[in-house]
Amino acid sequence: MNVKIGKNMLGKLDGYLKDTGINNLYIITDENINRLYYNSLQEALKEYNYNNYAFPPGEKSKSIYTVLSIYDNLIKNNIDRNTLIIGLGGGVVGDIAGFVASTFKRGINYIQIPTTLLAQVDSSIGGKVGIDYGGLKNVIGSFYFPNMIIIDILFLETLSNRDIICGLGEVFKYGLIADYNLFEFTSINLSNIYRKDEDILLNIINRSVAIKKDIVYRDKYDEGIRRILNFGHTIGHGIEAYYKFNKFNHGEAVILGMIYESHIAKGLGLIDERYFEKIYKVLKKLIVPIKFNIEEIKSLIKIMENDKKNVDGKITFVLPTGKGQVDLFNDIDEELIISSLKGGWF
Ligand SMILES: NC(=O)c1ccc[n+]([C@@H]2O[C@H](COP(=O)([O-])OP(=O)(O)OC[C@H]3O[C@@H](n4cnc5c(N)ncnc54)[C@H](O)[C@@H]3O)[C@@H](O)[C@H]2O)c1
Repeated sequence: MNVKIGKNMLGKLDGYLKDTGINNLYIITDENINRLYYNSLQEALKEYNYNNYAFPPGEKSKSIYTVLSIYDNLIKNNIDRNTLIIGLGGGVVGDIAGFVASTFKRGINYIQIPTTLLAQVDSSIGGKVGIDYGGLKNVIGSFYFPNMIIIDILFLETLSNRDIICGLGEVFKYGLIADYNLFEFTSINLSNIYRKDEDILLNIINRSVAIKKDIVYRDKYDEGIRRILNFGHTIGHGIEAYYKFNKFNHGEAVILGMIYESHIAKGLGLIDERYFEKIYKVLKKLIVPIKFNIEEIKSLIKIMENDKKNVDGKITFVLPTGKGQVDLFNDIDEELIISSLKGGWF
């Protein structure tokens, strides 16, 4: 995986693109990014022929309908296999651009330029591309690795605090699954991160990307170790889908998922009270946990039973087992799940 991380990378884009030898570009982005960065992009790409396709921002756009509109536009503009697709945006843009690149004319080259913290530390790395369908997240998709991933911290200057928090959820996840020092470092630097301190941002992005790259190298197609990246995602995806993807963003749902799943781990005796309290104290600074009622919990469990990560019809959980360590479990007593989600403990 060719990942470039730094500041003012748009200024260096021309040099990186020259290495690919491709002159025709097709940029897929969303309307927010288009509004904020169209001029800088025009300046960076002045020597290239390019088409630009911008769709409305947000998870609702991560659908087959957006993909179909892009196919129509690609065909209308006679885009061939000598074109390079650039996904410029957050995780929604990256997942769609990669999916289009993987399917159009049996696959064409693409690069990712992630513009949210979440996309920079997580979704742009690892080749998982796809869309939501039938109320289910990422249910249609493939593995398709970009030629290059260009991460520029300058994009984060315009990012809202809410979207910084979404990215932090994934950074804390890396800390809890693989590098407890990263968890501690990030937790004591929250205010520096909110004020977009460049050195701190580069530090957490570099460390997160290194962890994700290492895990993906060891298990490209999600058949083993890569599954630990789903910590917080079993309950997180359930919460996102329960609220029909319009109450919590992906990153927020993952933070909630990590809180409840850590509580389950404590209930199983996998981690002690002190470690659980540490995780809870840090994560609740990012998002206020919810006390779900029993009806809501039953619906959540039903959604989780449909999760593609499950094995033999049993819900699979990634649970913390020690500082910076997790493991997979798929025979969790339903009462433990219920009592965690009821939130009687906070
Ligand atoms: N493929 C993977 O491995 C993977 C991993 C994690 C998450 N995801 C997916 O990523 C998606 C979430 O990604 P996200 O949190 O980046 O959401 P997003 O793409 O919806 O972006 C969030 C918001 O920020 C705006 N935005 C983006 N960059 C900006 C910038 N620099 N300045 C100002 N505003 C900006 C967007 O327009 C949008 O409104 C979910 O669909 C999730 O399933 C995929």
